[in-house]
Amino acid sequence: MTESALRQRHIILGVTGGIAAYKSADLVRRLREAGAEVRVVMTRAATEFVTPLTFQAVSGQPVHTSLLDPEAEAAMGHIALARWADAVLVAPASADVLARLAHGQANDLLTTLCLATEAPLAVAPAMNRVMWLHPAVRDNVSLLERRGVAVFGPAVGDQACGEQGAGRMLEPLELVRHVGGLFGPRPLQGRRVVVTAGPTREALDPVRFISNRSSGRMGFALAAAARDAGADVELVSGPVALETPPGVRRTDVETAGEMHDAVQALLDGCDLFIGCAAVADYRPAQVASGKIKKREQQMQVELERNPDILASVAAASPRPFTVGFAAETEDLQGHAEDKRRRKGLDLIAGNLVGQPDSGFDVDSNRLWLRWQDGDCWLGPASKAQVADELIAFVADRMSKE
Ligand code: C5P
Repeated sequence: MTESALRQRHIILGVTGGIAAYKSADLVRRLREAGAEVRVVMTRAATEFVTPLTFQAVSGQPVHTSLLDPEAEAAMGHIALARWADAVLVAPASADVLARLAHGQANDLLTTLCLATEAPLAVAPAMNRVMWLHPAVRDNVSLLERRGVAVFGPAVGDQACGEQGAGRMLEPLELVRHVGGLFGPRPLQGRRVVVTAGPTREALDPVRFISNRSSGRMGFALAAAARDAGADVELVSGPVALETPPGVRRTDVETAGEMHDAVQALLDGCDLFIGCAAVADYRPAQVASGKIKKREQQMQVELERNPDILASVAAASPRPFTVGFAAETEDLQGHAEDKRRRKGLDLIAGNLVGQPDSGFDVDSNRLWLRWQDGDCWLGPASKAQVADELIAFVADRMSKE
């Protein structure tokens, strides 16, 4: 797919100052192998890591480094470059360039070009994991995402600074696949997708509730990935502190009962259902009308079962392609497969919770996928990347049905 998607496409590769810039030379080669024409724009800091000559050699084109060089502007100025581009990919994208792009600065050739182009813009961040987690960087990235900038990665793993975590630039071949995705067929085009995300809250009294640690991040990433794949996406979310991915419709609920009803109301015409929410299995049998007072040394709360949303979707007829999640603390594969069978799912995605690189409230995830006649692992990688891969996988299986 990528091959044809990139054939004769004009890609501007913006290289900024980071050690991952050395991988960008290989990226140029890979993009060209996939059929793209590539022109490289480097920031001044990038030239401290890799020389323009390297990029000139691998791209077969002069490298652009300066906005104010009359000679270079005469050959192909920033406006001409901006018009030439079918897509702009900034890889590696440093924390600095993310900040400058987020704030619409135009203080060098690359940032000026990014403002002057109508082509889609993508960034492949690469930086130390602490920098990546800094609230300033987080805010800049979410601002860019809201504006429709595609953020590829970063990956989780060893870093040049000797640390381990999220911040590695994606490998060149992964980036080529993502850039191809900017042009390629959108595998869920015309499909309706419903995703549940986040925890539910089950009230004990007007001020207290039973809930869990789900942050909603995986479900939100899945909704964004399904949207990127061309789907019409409905997100049914429990209480979370996340912004709705642009272009996704969201229904907020609190209890499992409300989530069940919201999902049922959206099932008509639904092609794919992904139950990613951490739905409370039980709710208090009685909800006190006033705040429960402390009197006895011990108190008992009677719980009753909530409806199983996922199982009820899987049992509907006609039914969407149905994907469930299994968050486990032990025997991941045994429990996940048991759930897949019991609930009658097309696919289950199991993950271990409470791990440094997977589970609740962390930015990365590792999933074990199990379907009727096979299984595979995805990640560890950022939840956004794992979501992209899961959606691509599901779209492929749906197309074979
Ligand atoms: O059975 P368990 O809760 O571990 O299964 C997890 C999967 O089932 C998740 O996909 C979750 O969204 C879904 N689920 C549900 N309704 C429930 C409980 C779980 O849809 N009441």
